[in-house]
Amino acid sequence: MKIKDVSIRDLRSISNLEHQIFKENAFSIKLVEKLIQQNTLFLKLEDGKIMKKLIGFIVVIKDREDQANIINFLIHPQFQSKGYGSLLLQETIERIKKRLKEIKKIVLNVQVNNSIAIKLYEKFNFQKNSKSIENYYQSGEDAYLMELST
Ligand SMILES: CC(C)(COP(=O)(O)OP(=O)(O)OC[C@H]1O[C@@H](n2cnc3c(N)ncnc32)[C@H](O)[C@@H]1OP(=O)(O)O)[C@@H](O)C(=O)NCCC(=O)NCCS
Repeated sequence: MKIKDVSIRDLRSISNLEHQIFKENAFSIKLVEKLIQQNTLFLKLEDGKIMKKLIGFIVVIKDREDQANIINFLIHPQFQSKGYGSLLLQETIERIKKRLKEIKKIVLNVQVNNSIAIKLYEKFNFQKNSKSIENYYQSGEDAYLMELST
């Protein structure tokens, strides 16, 4: 497995996987394109084979001077629950700490019923805010804000 920066050549495969997983909550292809072009942390996990299958990706933006926000993160359904999400999140936290020294806090939003993702974030010591944010997603679902002090 390899973790690399996403480039504009990955736009189609990233956007297809995004829509397959997040459906009506998916980011538009235009937004994904913008995020690739901006200088955010946009990492992909690929297998080491010749065809380089996209296993997952993660998008981080700096939404405040001292805060990074994980705004998108997924692992291909065929590869979930095999430790790849943990691998990609671990590497992302390390790169934020290394590349963005001013960052004091990493935040993210997660659907209140996404217990697998919540467990993963808690494994990395993210703390869940007790109060949820109503109607956070396009689909009308609520979200928790989770935070990690770096
Ligand atoms: C959430 C997601 C990124 C996790 O990635 P993953 O590769 O499946 O996660 P891992 O295999 O590294 O597992 C991480 C932890 O999640 C929990 N977990 C994973 N699969 C689980 C399952 N089937 N049942 C219960 N808990 C599970 C475990 O606590 C696990 O840690 P452990 O194995 O050390 O106990 C992935 O499931 C996914 O892409 N889901 C759809 C998109 C999504 O919800 N993204 C997050 C948006 S906030």
